[in-house]
Amino acid sequence: MNLRRTHLLPAVLVAASAVVHAQAPANLTVDLSHPKAAVSPMLYGLMTEEINYAYDGGLYAELIRNRTFRSDWTGILNWFVVEKGPATAKITLDSKTGPSSALTNSLKLEITRADAANPAGLLNEGYWGMAVRPNNTFVGSFFAKADKDSPLPVRIQLVADQSGKVLADTSVSVAGTAWTQYKFTLHAGTAAASAQNHLEMTLDRPATLWLQLVSLFPPTYHDRANGNRADLMEKLAAMRPSFLRFPGGNYLEGNTIATRFDWKKMIGPLVDRPTHPGTWTYHSTDGMGLLEFLNWCEDLKMQPLLAVYGGYSLGGEVVKPGPDLVPYVQEALDEIEYVTGPADSKWGAVRAKDGHPAPFPLHYVEVGNEDNFDKAKTYDGRYAQFYKAIKAKYPNLEIIATMPISGMKPDVLDDHYYKREQGMFDLAKHYDTVDRNGPKIFVGEWATREGSPTPNFGSALGDAAFLTGLERNSDLVVMSAYAPLLVNVNPGGMQWTSDLIGYDALSSYGSPSYYTQVMFASCLGDHIADASLTGGGERFFYSATSTAGSKACLKLVNASSTPQTVSLQLKGLGAGAHTAQVQTLRANTTWATNSITDPTRIVPVRSKLTVNGEALQHTLPPYTVEVVEIPLR
Ligand code: AHR
Repeated sequence: MNLRRTHLLPAVLVAASAVVHAQAPANLTVDLSHPKAAVSPMLYGLMTEEINYAYDGGLYAELIRNRTFRSDWTGILNWFVVEKGPATAKITLDSKTGPSSALTNSLKLEITRADAANPAGLLNEGYWGMAVRPNNTFVGSFFAKADKDSPLPVRIQLVADQSGKVLADTSVSVAGTAWTQYKFTLHAGTAAASAQNHLEMTLDRPATLWLQLVSLFPPTYHDRANGNRADLMEKLAAMRPSFLRFPGGNYLEGNTIATRFDWKKMIGPLVDRPTHPGTWTYHSTDGMGLLEFLNWCEDLKMQPLLAVYGGYSLGGEVVKPGPDLVPYVQEALDEIEYVTGPADSKWGAVRAKDGHPAPFPLHYVEVGNEDNFDKAKTYDGRYAQFYKAIKAKYPNLEIIATMPISGMKPDVLDDHYYKREQGMFDLAKHYDTVDRNGPKIFVGEWATREGSPTPNFGSALGDAAFLTGLERNSDLVVMSAYAPLLVNVNPGGMQWTSDLIGYDALSSYGSPSYYTQVMFASCLGDHIADASLTGGGERFFYSATSTAGSKACLKLVNASSTPQTVSLQLKGLGAGAHTAQVQTLRANTTWATNSITDPTRIVPVRSKLTVNGEALQHTLPPYTVEVVEIPLR
């Protein structure tokens, strides 16, 4: 072995690494007095589906896991027997009795021995625990019937997993042999917030009881019944989304036609919703049904962007265009009427009965999802059939296609991009050269996929670069939405890596990619400014927009590991000093990230910058995303 050479090598490397490679200076000229085109006010929105326990075990605030008692060979999932002292009990699935035609089975609880000191019953483990916070009030309900008419007191308690401490306690008297719904509330004391809790339902005597649809909700966003988790809704609100694309994604299509998003089975009382297998390995409670999506839109002041089932399911089943497709087209027309119809229309009346007499606004309907995967190549015909029928009844709706259509120009085309960081840098210029005579573009799903469960800072840089391209071209790109939006970070919670917002039962956090979007949406502007760039490194990206008489918005991205100087000419800004508001997101490495245990390591930092006259010399540190808002007055 040549020792001399092996010793020399590190010295050479050190010498080489000491030379910091400087990025070529960038010259960015922005003409604020000549806006090029309008920025789409709907550029930023949300895309959502049931993936990664996004609704069940996520946004949908239900605490009980498997409230409708599905079972496998191990027993009734997520439910366990409680036997204190010598008490004895058994739980089984009774397929012969249930409270509705949608829920035709139930859990049968048989207690053969129990007393006040030694109760017996069952417990639910929740979605990786149940969050209990000091002084929370929980709203619960269940359907039950007994084998006798005499009243049975059912004790309901939230219990700390480790200490066994009872955190909240109540009792409900179940009376009679007919299915009845019982409601209760639980008030938590002052114990510290924790997710390591479960729910117990016990009796103090031998008895037989059937249960179905056991539900428990914590306080929800805007106090909605059957509502959403407040912390997640607040994070979404901070993104200022203008629309919500729902219900998918693959979840819309289902693995089979029978397991598609069959919206008519997902409205009305929960007891009338049969539930269904989702496409992402787990079963959906369907508590997040059509009206709940619309309420979510209303709460965050978003427009619904309704994706209707288009006749293709993931497993390959296709409904041929023509007569076979007619019922599915009708299903979509009915769905649109449920959303937009007056309260005296057939489906508008159903919506009113469900609790929302006022119609919802709707401008965009998407037919299907990623129909390029349809091996039978039937989408041209299916899209055209939906288009004709929807336009005939709703001429003002814009109909989004999931792939190019031969023989016709769709109103809007949905493009999807999932790439590594470099791929997104390449895509940042993609729309600069796309034909303006083609359909408008909806980037309905996109993400830089580096980092798990949530994207790391390299992804945030890829995202920021890509978003500058969307903003510069938002005359063409009318809407965009990152996907997937949500992930439960508990073991087994994730089916798709790199998801925007992570959470467990108790808390949630935004990834660096999340903060990039919060920053970008905070200063959208309403016009694309005329701008040109010379010089600058390969990994420098920008966009410039303005709102006349109000503000200029600059997005500056240095995705390289060395500083980037930028000479800015801001024509039309005028003389004098302008105090710009700056938001900076940066990290030391592309692998740096936020996590459930370190949720705010990378967050935007605000500062001020004085622009004297129309010129500014500015240096972006390595790995930096900046949003600069300059007042125009
Ligand atoms: O976002 C995850 C999946 O990616 C969506 O369900 C699907 O539309 C796409 O393939």
